[in-house]
Amino acid sequence: MCWKLSGSGEVKLEFHLPVTQVSVPPDFIDLGLGDPQLSLLPLEMIRQGAQNCLSQNDPSFLQYGTNQGDGYFRQSLAKFLSNGYGFPVDPDNLFVIPGVSMGLHLISSFFTHPGDKVFVEEPTYLYALRIFADLGLQLIPIQTDENGILIESLEENLNLNTPKFLYIIPTFQNPSGCTLSHDRRERLIGLSQEHGFFIVADEVYHLLSYRETPPKPFASYTAGGNVISLGSFSKILAPGIRLGWIQTSQAIINRFITSGLLESGGGLNPFVSSIARTILDTGGLDENIAKLISIYRNRLSRFDAALHSELPEMHYKAPMGGYFIWARLPEGILARDLQPRANELRVGFRPGNLFSSQGAKQEYIRLCFVFYEPDVLEQGVARLKQSLHA
Ligand SMILES: Cc1ncc(COP(=O)(O)O)c(C=O)c1O
Repeated sequence: MCWKLSGSGEVKLEFHLPVTQVSVPPDFIDLGLGDPQLSLLPLEMIRQGAQNCLSQNDPSFLQYGTNQGDGYFRQSLAKFLSNGYGFPVDPDNLFVIPGVSMGLHLISSFFTHPGDKVFVEEPTYLYALRIFADLGLQLIPIQTDENGILIESLEENLNLNTPKFLYIIPTFQNPSGCTLSHDRRERLIGLSQEHGFFIVADEVYHLLSYRETPPKPFASYTAGGNVISLGSFSKILAPGIRLGWIQTSQAIINRFITSGLLESGGGLNPFVSSIARTILDTGGLDENIAKLISIYRNRLSRFDAALHSELPEMHYKAPMGGYFIWARLPEGILARDLQPRANELRVGFRPGNLFSSQGAKQEYIRLCFVFYEPDVLEQGVARLKQSLHA
């Protein structure tokens, strides 16, 4: 809820009911926020997709949908992914979900019990930590470096525990921006087969690559039967449509689609899938991704340049894609001490400890370069500098 002063000199309080999850006050620059910018959400494209869909005289998409997700949509999605990933994707290996967050919740609730162990990267996506904690899972951190998860740390932990699954964001990771090297991907697959655990690969940023093409996604390893890859329209189209997919083996998909949840409610988003299909088929999604890549590449480059010149004492490795920069604060400064000073100067970031299953990483902050235009990003860096030197 928020109250606003109306314009035109008249002092009148307006009452607004909430619509978006987060709203940033106009005088505040929240460099921590990992959402797309409102003005980059493709309203016209969605309007046309919806119009196409609603002008057909076939109301099938208003019926309970087929459990695995609209077959025509999966076909279009498979074609799109085959192009984007560079290898053939079979629509039978896709299961439609309302976003990766729900996918993570479903995987955890179908394949684990409270108390089961799950390996997570240290650091990792803060809300994945929350989803796993909600379901009573025991989180074991696996150390990482700038090429992603450290195989030695994984092996050490495998000598002590076999997890139900390893949750990993292999490409343009949230929060670190790092990408797991091809060799480590192969080693990880080998270890998962040897020790019998699933790899749950959250590949939401894979298609947002600005500098170098990343190694093949984990989606290319699903034939082995123990990889579950997740993707989403949230970062490449719009989060509000709540649409994503799981790509995995038929056996795992069968577990989802024969569940009471799916039998009761049918497929998980038939109406929106149908709209998204027309956007895929007209090349709209490819167009949108190309536009985002060009805008985000420029934002990253301006943000990176500003951080380099204004805050040389902060260490980070510039990412090749995605949304985030994971910066190490100057020696002796902790995120929790910096935050009140930054708030006073009207600039925000996400403290590193939010991304640690152990509450560690206080000496890091997560910054996002996609939400603001370059000039505002630069102003944000100037405020951050002031707060560090206050
Ligand atoms: C790594 C990661 N996974 C999942 C999500 C959420 O995805 P969705 O909107 O598809 O639920 C995010 C959003 O920030 C994310 O960064």
